[in-house]
Amino acid sequence: MNLRGGGFGGSMAAMKLVATCARGTEGAVRGELAALGMRHLRGARGAVTFEGRVDDGMRACLWSRTAMRILAPLAAFPCPDAAALYAGVRTVDWTEWLTVKTTLAVDATGTAPGLTHTGFVALKVKDGVVDSLRDALGGRPDVDVKDPDVRIVLHLARGQAELSLDLSGTPLYRRGYRTSVQEAPLKETLAASMLALGEAAHDRPFLDLLCGSGTLAIEQALAARRMAPGLRRAFGFQRWPRYRGEWQSAWDRMKEEARVAVLPRAPAPIRASDRSAEAVDAAQRNARAAGVEADLELTVAEARAAEPFGEGGTICTNPPYGERIGGQPLQLAGFYRGLGETFRRFHGWSVLVLSGNPLLERNLGMRPEWSHRLWNGPLEVNLIRCRAP
Ligand SMILES: C[S@@+](CC[C@H](N)C(=O)[O-])C[C@H]1O[C@@H](n2cnc3c(N)ncnc32)[C@H](O)[C@@H]1O
Repeated sequence: MNLRGGGFGGSMAAMKLVATCARGTEGAVRGELAALGMRHLRGARGAVTFEGRVDDGMRACLWSRTAMRILAPLAAFPCPDAAALYAGVRTVDWTEWLTVKTTLAVDATGTAPGLTHTGFVALKVKDGVVDSLRDALGGRPDVDVKDPDVRIVLHLARGQAELSLDLSGTPLYRRGYRTSVQEAPLKETLAASMLALGEAAHDRPFLDLLCGSGTLAIEQALAARRMAPGLRRAFGFQRWPRYRGEWQSAWDRMKEEARVAVLPRAPAPIRASDRSAEAVDAAQRNARAAGVEADLELTVAEARAAEPFGEGGTICTNPPYGERIGGQPLQLAGFYRGLGETFRRFHGWSVLVLSGNPLLERNLGMRPEWSHRLWNGPLEVNLIRCRAP
């Protein structure tokens, strides 16, 4: 089935769009897209589909804090082997998307019985696109895997192929503010998903007492100030040959509206601390790059020194869990017990912890009211929420 006619056929026709995301965050993505007014939301593993026009796809790029990429499918077809893949790719009129001067890259994900090597699949797709353009235009575009004008995504699942354009370009977790990273940083999209799934209130105090490069506190500040996460970066669709004109005007308007929507200050205090001065420096630089430096109170401090401030706030944190940061199980158990004692001093606060080690839940001394499985890259982790009595 070629989706082009129903999708991009008219310049602003409704079509299927896909927001890809980390496994376990689909609920956060769905909630966010619904709040943006997107319709017909369906969540599958690692992706949420919705219906919208190309400007809805752009809006999702600008405003989604939790999705990884926004894709616009062009064609879907059964794909038992390489010949079917090549034939499917050639059903698309690529002259709508590329000229001989635009560069392209192909990402392949998933597998089919006869197509298990993503590198080979990407190459076949590229061949189909390039051959179509050579036949139609008498020339071929160049491949640029690092920084293409047009990124094409081929996803294989259950014997079907779905061929899409990637509106995002660089994945959405790269907001552009994280210039300094510390050990084991969270992806911005995972940090935002933790805050959304845990319902961290924007008008109540917030604390991350193991802040590393500051991702959770910065994402909290961006959300609390209603600052669109994509306001400071460029997107893939801006380099498409079809972008100039109606789509560009829509994008310019959308960005202007987003600029106007920003609150001058976060409505409640946001604190972040770490015992590493280097980490706090990095968090400071990142907060400045994100435009939220004035909203964050950053300090170098031992986690156990943290004291409550204000009523009914949220602690949200990502403690070391041994897999990625050194530490023996016994030391970790004591560390987690100490963390639990600290959390319990924050009476009436909500405590959101990303737990990658069962020792944490065993030693916190707090019963989670809620637990949600997430994937931090390849690591299976639990987001738990407790309430300090
Ligand atoms: C997994 S990292 C946090 C990463 C962070 N969420 C980010 O996105 O960059 C854990 C952090 O805990 C800090 N840390 C470990 N033990 C600590 C302690 N006792 N007090 C304060 N910070 C501590 C480490 O310096 C490290 O930056």
